[in-house]
Amino acid sequence: MTAPSDPASRVPAHVGIIMDGNGRWAERRGLPRLEGHRRGAERLIEVVDAAIDRGVRCLTLYAFSAENWRRPAEEVGGLFKLGEWVLRLHLHRLSKRKVRFRTIGDLGAMPDFIRVPIQEAVASSRDNTAFDLVIALNYGSRQETVRAAKSLAADAAAGTLDPASITWETLAGRLETAGLPDPDLIIRTSGECRLSNFLLLQAAYAEIVISPTFWPDFGKEALEAALAEYAGRERRFGMTGGQVRPAASPSA
Ligand code: FPP
Repeated sequence: MTAPSDPASRVPAHVGIIMDGNGRWAERRGLPRLEGHRRGAERLIEVVDAAIDRGVRCLTLYAFSAENWRRPAEEVGGLFKLGEWVLRLHLHRLSKRKVRFRTIGDLGAMPDFIRVPIQEAVASSRDNTAFDLVIALNYGSRQETVRAAKSLAADAAAGTLDPASITWETLAGRLETAGLPDPDLIIRTSGECRLSNFLLLQAAYAEIVISPTFWPDFGKEALEAALAEYAGRERRFGMTGGQVRPAASPSA
């Protein structure tokens, strides 16, 4: 049995995944890019189930970035259809697993056929407590930060917020991840080493694991490998190796 203090038993509470490599996976097989996205959408559910089984409490998936609109319209439309398809296929089962759906990003610009079912899933799963599945849709960390800053500025202008009283916690409370723990681990697939505008503020102290696997091949075993790499890391939060984690994250 593994002792609780053994690094191998450390499971991140919140994992964020930058799902990358669908296009290259398809191109290497002479398949259309959308086929890579279709295989990627299937993987998504396998990884959600594996994360729940491993005791992760929250998973944020970067499904569509604010910059992804620059892709051909056919690819964008295909991605949305896949998102709607995978949600429809697995919503009931995931709800039975007590998964609470949540989104981050600007859903307003999304077509109704995907926005409405996602909003319904968020509403119907509101009371589930076992696992938070956060879908980042039309999401960008800089855009999210600007929205938060505007909301603080509006309150300051209205006289309901003293600018001098603003702390990190005040700002974090206006981010779309408010109430969720900061990610402990960010995984990016396909070997790319960038955060690409994903949870930039929330990931200040996250461990980053780069998996060489393209997302359509990233299954349970690849997740296990990433979790094992995380468990072997020493997290410092700005301290020396001998110190322990502070009770609260630093506000300055
Ligand atoms: C990155 O591969 C992957 C994406 C941009 C989309 C990931 C989304 C899904 C798998 C599911 C769709 C779900 C919703 C809700 C939209 P890439 O095309 O950037 O790969 P490449 O770098 O090899 O070209």
